[in-house]
Amino acid sequence: METTKDTYRGDFPFFTNNPDLVYLDSAATTQKPTQVLEATLTYNGAQHANIHRGAYELSIEATNKFDAVRSKVKAFIGASLEEEIIFTSGTTESINMIVSSYAGLHLEEGDEIVLSILEHHSNLVPWQQLAIARKLKLSYMYINDLGIIEPDEIEVKIHDGVKIVAITMMSNAIGVKTPIEAIIKRTHQVGGIVVVDGAQAVPHQAIDVVSMDMDFLVFSGHKMMASTGVGVLYGKKALLETMAPYRYGGDMIEYVEEQVTTFAKLPSRLEAGTPNIEGVISLGAAIDYINHIGMDTIHNHEMMLTQYALLKLSELDYVNIIGTTDIQFKGPVISFNIRDVHSHDTAFILDNAHIAIRSGHHCAQPLMHYMKVPSTARISFYIYNNTEDVDQLITHLKEVRRWLGYGS
Ligand code: ALA
Repeated sequence: METTKDTYRGDFPFFTNNPDLVYLDSAATTQKPTQVLEATLTYNGAQHANIHRGAYELSIEATNKFDAVRSKVKAFIGASLEEEIIFTSGTTESINMIVSSYAGLHLEEGDEIVLSILEHHSNLVPWQQLAIARKLKLSYMYINDLGIIEPDEIEVKIHDGVKIVAITMMSNAIGVKTPIEAIIKRTHQVGGIVVVDGAQAVPHQAIDVVSMDMDFLVFSGHKMMASTGVGVLYGKKALLETMAPYRYGGDMIEYVEEQVTTFAKLPSRLEAGTPNIEGVISLGAAIDYINHIGMDTIHNHEMMLTQYALLKLSELDYVNIIGTTDIQFKGPVISFNIRDVHSHDTAFILDNAHIAIRSGHHCAQPLMHYMKVPSTARISFYIYNNTEDVDQLITHLKEVRRWLGYGS
């Protein structure tokens, strides 16, 4: 079985510093390669200056470095224009911006928003709160027993009059992909716009916002090997131009008088204040790193690991995998439960063996309620994982029931 252990793991000081750790929680946050760490160290240690403000060389260089990342992000997601890329603090802020500065401005009482039951709280609570405040209708597309949104559900729920569909590309909780192309097509047929939560997808598969006709796409840097506190809001220029400024302050203005202000053009209009410059620089370095490896290589490696783990888990008759095991509908995330064992106990016992997984409701309580599963244990992969990680997990999963006195 192919392994990347020697190819890419060496790029990650985290694994040198934690040689005994099996890290299986990249859906929560990813580790960073030296290339990303060095980019922020160089900026902070040798080149630190604020951007868009100074006339001196260091500030101009910092500005150029920052602006170059916008161009990298544009190419990375296949956008047409640099001003369609807005830097934010992450997926959560990107969604809140769309909710308050786009939907809050354009939707009227009685208008309908459609989500899926798979959504992370960050793509659910902001819409729900807007719906409550503005008397909007909030509907959900539900899933079948395998966690998949079926074509009929798309057809029925996305009907004439639906204004916004906000949908994840891949469930963070159970790793199932949504039929994003069909959802976008149907939403556009009924005259709505689509907000795509790409937090779990953008780090793992090639995206082309233009050919996929996405209206908005949001994602976070720290799930693709960049720093925490940086993310992206992509929007079609015509839509971004109708958004109200989300925050007021420096850098987003054109002229300020005592009583009135005119605002800057995109993207500055939506980026008030000193941004997370080192975060943006780390995002640029992470994109360079991903491009250097190749997104296809990353994707194929993760799918190989996911398939391997599904096979090994299926050999344990006390493991119940949540959602489909069909690899064509999955990203590199597997949720499961061990019979008679709470997921937190599973995670705790694995932690004793230096295996880091996530357990709980994964910030998707409505999904858990719908599936009637109180919580799950979740493993997730990235380029630095290998089959030995899976083998160690399986070895120690065999211990979990024994530890709790159930025998094997
Ligand atoms: N959204 C992240 C996760 O699924 C934190 O773990």
